[in-house]
Amino acid sequence: MAKDISNLDSFLVESINPIWFGEDSFNQLQNLIEKGKYSKLLFLVDENTHDKCLPYLLQSLSKIPHYEVLEVEPGEESKSAEVLVQLWMALSELKVDRQALMINVGGGMITDLGGFLAGTYLRGIHFVNVPTSLLAMVDASSGGKNGINLQHLKNRVGLFLNPEAVCVIPDFLETLPEQELRSGFAEMLKHGLIADKAYWEELATFDIENEIPTQEMILRSIQIKKEIVEQDFRETGLRKALNFGHTIGHAIETAAMDAEPLMHGEAIALGMIAELYLSEKYTALPPADAEKCANQIRALFRDLEWNCDIDELLQLMQSDKKNKKNQIRFSLLREIGVPEVDVAIGEKGITEALDYLKQKL
Ligand SMILES: NC(=O)c1ccc[n+]([C@@H]2O[C@H](COP(=O)([O-])OP(=O)(O)OC[C@H]3O[C@@H](n4cnc5c(N)ncnc54)[C@H](O)[C@@H]3O)[C@@H](O)[C@H]2O)c1
Repeated sequence: MAKDISNLDSFLVESINPIWFGEDSFNQLQNLIEKGKYSKLLFLVDENTHDKCLPYLLQSLSKIPHYEVLEVEPGEESKSAEVLVQLWMALSELKVDRQALMINVGGGMITDLGGFLAGTYLRGIHFVNVPTSLLAMVDASSGGKNGINLQHLKNRVGLFLNPEAVCVIPDFLETLPEQELRSGFAEMLKHGLIADKAYWEELATFDIENEIPTQEMILRSIQIKKEIVEQDFRETGLRKALNFGHTIGHAIETAAMDAEPLMHGEAIALGMIAELYLSEKYTALPPADAEKCANQIRALFRDLEWNCDIDELLQLMQSDKKNKKNQIRFSLLREIGVPEVDVAIGEKGITEALDYLKQKL
């Protein structure tokens, strides 16, 4: 796999919170740590990011005061109330006070869990996100959504709260397993589909099996998310567009958990195929566009299998956070790059979309 991304320039992206990008991030983070005069410095990692990412981060910071490391098991199971309680207790035992800084170093699991932990312990301590997976770089680490799962209900408990800053360092992608890279790529495809046709077309022909997305691509995704979030931080309208593919995708992800688990982005890829069908039927996306986009996503995720029970999926969608008045609501596309949110669709329509998805697999 071609992985040399070391020669590109660094960028600075302005956002609700600063998003530092590339090599420059280390200096920025160093300054923040020095100026903040924090009472304690903590790193939250999972076992993989402890081994693969924390050493690089620590050696890239020129001066670092004494710190503590909190480590959890990798995987979605750690985004749970049980793990959160253990972490609250650990912070309490370490006598962490409100002037502490926590640095979340990991994928979306760590940034979601760490943001919630930092936002709730002592009613809030300072935190910074250092995303290490592609999915966390382009999506999970910015936008202020933090939280945990409540048993099988994804992201059921959480907070809207921004970190002090997000440090996006694409070098971390060097050690990310290929399947994880493709999972993050699904969210980039979503960014193109909901906001930027030209970007979508660039991504649709990108060889994600053999290449790491360029820094420009990663930045474009970050910008799309930032622009949407800045207009609707609390997700009352436009921000719901970022849920394209997620109503069906989350249900598939949950249903698959016990049998053959799918990665978040893999489930979202399947969800986008089904929701392209719904976009054609309910929001007038031209049929040729719907079919072409579905085929392109399918080609990128051609090895995915899916054997979920449609009734189980419908039941899971009944608990979707976007529902209103017991109606299942979708974020769909009117055109490539033009979303439409809050589209209520009945069980018959959803079943047809799931049948269509089954045919595609
Ligand atoms: N808050 C949001 O806005 C938002 C948006 C999208 C997704 N999410 C959440 O993000 C989570 C999924 O994120 P994810 O796909 O990053 O999962 P993840 O955090 O579980 O990371 C995936 C795997 O990659 C490993 N890993 C991460 N970085 C690595 C690196 N540089 N080198 C080697 N291994 C590395 C992790 O240890 C883990 O095993 C889900 O919980 C989802 O709900 C949140």
